Amino acid sequence: MTEGVEVVPGSDRDALADEVWEGLRRDVPELSPRLFYDERGSELFEQITGLDEYYPTRTETALLERWSGPIVERLRPAALLELGAGSARKTRLLLSHLAREVPGARYVPLDVSADFLERTAATLRSEYPALEVVPEVADFNSEIVLSHPLPRPALFAFLGGTIGNFAATAGTDLLRRLAARMNPGDHLLLGADLRPGPGKTREELVAAYDDARGVTAAFNLNILAVLDAAIGTDFDLDDWRHRAVWVEDEGRIEMHLVAVRDVDVAVPERGLVRFAKGDAIRTEISSKYDRATLESMFDRAGLRVTDWLTDARDRYALVIGRPS
Ligand code: TRP
Repeated sequence: MTEGVEVVPGSDRDALADEVWEGLRRDVPELSPRLFYDERGSELFEQITGLDEYYPTRTETALLERWSGPIVERLRPAALLELGAGSARKTRLLLSHLAREVPGARYVPLDVSADFLERTAATLRSEYPALEVVPEVADFNSEIVLSHPLPRPALFAFLGGTIGNFAATAGTDLLRRLAARMNPGDHLLLGADLRPGPGKTREELVAAYDDARGVTAAFNLNILAVLDAAIGTDFDLDDWRHRAVWVEDEGRIEMHLVAVRDVDVAVPERGLVRFAKGDAIRTEISSKYDRATLESMFDRAGLRVTDWLTDARDRYALVIGRPS
């Protein structure tokens, strides 16, 4: 089926089936969140970012509206490198200031999808003739290798709270890999979702991952359809339900798919995985932070926090740092 082919080129089918077979049989059964994003998954995620309950996108956008100007005026970056650029919607707030303040500056969107990057780049070139747009295909889950040296000083941007989707040490490792690519004068702009507090109840936090209209549920369940199409598993979406839980000790939201009855899942050429009613598969984690935690992660990565910008209710933070 074409859907699966997009996510998983034929040659990777076996590797994916092995990975799924192994993941489902762990003590905490797990699937990789990268499987969410086939075409339908990407559409559903777009819808999530517009939900009333999903405050992170809205809050980050408001912070960027407020701070993009001052940030660009102060740092005057010759290059803006964005990790996981996607459609670069929020980035436009930074780009319009960059085009005005530093004509000739370079925007380097970095993403795993070459196709998507080229389309975004073409649009941005016509929108911002004053900027040079030089996309780079790279996977920031491993070492970040750029095919062109970055003009200096550079501003590295990692927005959307995506840092939270890395487990604790993996988040710090990613910051360390970024720090290794940075020179004196460069800065990092990080978007991070914050822990519950006076301005954010746990219920609000959970609702952001379990909306009333069920969009997030559909998004989570779609991972099973992606697998059925990609490797021929026989998941029936009706056998599973979406669950989002706040795990206090880990400071994170976890997304699960819970079996609503006993279910046997066939992984072709490998075998059956047996789930009893109530058993769960973990599909995503989304860590939430406080200032001290982020400062210590920056510190361990070789970075120093220079600015901490939050909304009035302390729900979300833009953190700026530089090599220490
Ligand atoms: N980076 C987003 C976040 O952690 C991803 C996300 C939002 C997500 N809603 C989701 C991932 C639901 C899985 C399921 O906030």
